[in-house]
Amino acid sequence: MRFVLGLETSCDETSAAVLDVSSASPRVASLVILSQDVHRIFGGVVPELASRAHVRTIAAVTDRALADAGIALADVDAVAATAAPGLVGALLVGLAYGKALAWARGLPFLGVHHLEGHLFAPTLEAPDCAPPFVALLASGGHTLLLDVPRWGEYRVLGETLDDAAGEAFDKVATLLGLDYPGGPRIERLAAEGRPGAQRLPRPMLGELEGHGPHRYAFSFSGLKTAVLRAVRASRDLDGDRPDIARAFQDAVVDVLAAKTLHARSALGYPAVLVGGGVACNQALLGALRDRAGDGVRIFAASPRLNTDNAAMIAAAGAWRLARGERSGWDHEPGDRRPLPGLAHAASAPLA
Ligand code: KG4
Ligand code: ZN
Repeated sequence: MRFVLGLETSCDETSAAVLDVSSASPRVASLVILSQDVHRIFGGVVPELASRAHVRTIAAVTDRALADAGIALADVDAVAATAAPGLVGALLVGLAYGKALAWARGLPFLGVHHLEGHLFAPTLEAPDCAPPFVALLASGGHTLLLDVPRWGEYRVLGETLDDAAGEAFDKVATLLGLDYPGGPRIERLAAEGRPGAQRLPRPMLGELEGHGPHRYAFSFSGLKTAVLRAVRASRDLDGDRPDIARAFQDAVVDVLAAKTLHARSALGYPAVLVGGGVACNQALLGALRDRAGDGVRIFAASPRLNTDNAAMIAAAGAWRLARGERSGWDHEPGDRRPLPGLAHAASAPLA
């Protein structure tokens, strides 16, 4: 097997990539990401518009990825497409297109779990990125802390009880009058804010000291309400905006970093992996690096591979394909499907 074609259409990015898996460290031969601009005017992703845009562009995006890699469809050895989780109508486009290409050419096909894709993203730039590690997956749809002793074996340590971290960034951005997606805009504004000028709560950080079921759980919806209160209390929002953004980002980063690093040291692992769109946040990466201590590796991909892209889907798919796994032509998209190989911490408590 040499070339794996990856497809990703779970949300508002139409993406195709060619991964060269002929050597031990897979190489991204091409990556095309077409971000749908239409959602910006609505302040969030409109599912029906996302599906329609994927339908319009998936063939051209795939052709472009093949051309950029300098190969033809006949050179592709296997196809991997995101199957879940995500917007079902959006997933359906890439999944059906990928299955059709594979079926027509008699190629192996694999439906990939989107979050497993985020887990594999850092491997594309750091060939030595491998378990065991604690993984923090933080995106617009998920906030998940995982124990990853081996690839394919995942144990949930904690997840969000309400909003995802990226969703909180997006909603707080709206409260502050910023555009969608909010994460990068809040990060930019927070850089102008003064640390400590506004104080916001650290939700569920106290749970870390106990051994309760929510020790590694997250909650961001109360923080969002606290921001709303700060916005309403402000008599000069233009002046206070950077300080509020800074206080919000500091609170999120503090909770994410503390829980992730605590779990890492409890498990005695040598590394932490951060993935998903929120892993683009330099304040989060900085806090993890500063607080992790010497000798602890922090694996994180560069922004282009952290946000949704097909190269990470090809990487996760290639790993499973190499183990002989295949998906049937009846493989369906799913809006919420657990990671393959997932166990809950309750079934094997953390020491
Ligand atoms: O992984 P992703 O591209 O899509 C999902 O699977 O959801 O993540 C998108 C999320 C958005 O909520 C966006 O606001 C957030 O990642 N994000 C950031 C940053 N860049 C993207 N959040 C905080 N800081 C950033 N620099
Ligand atoms: Zn994602």
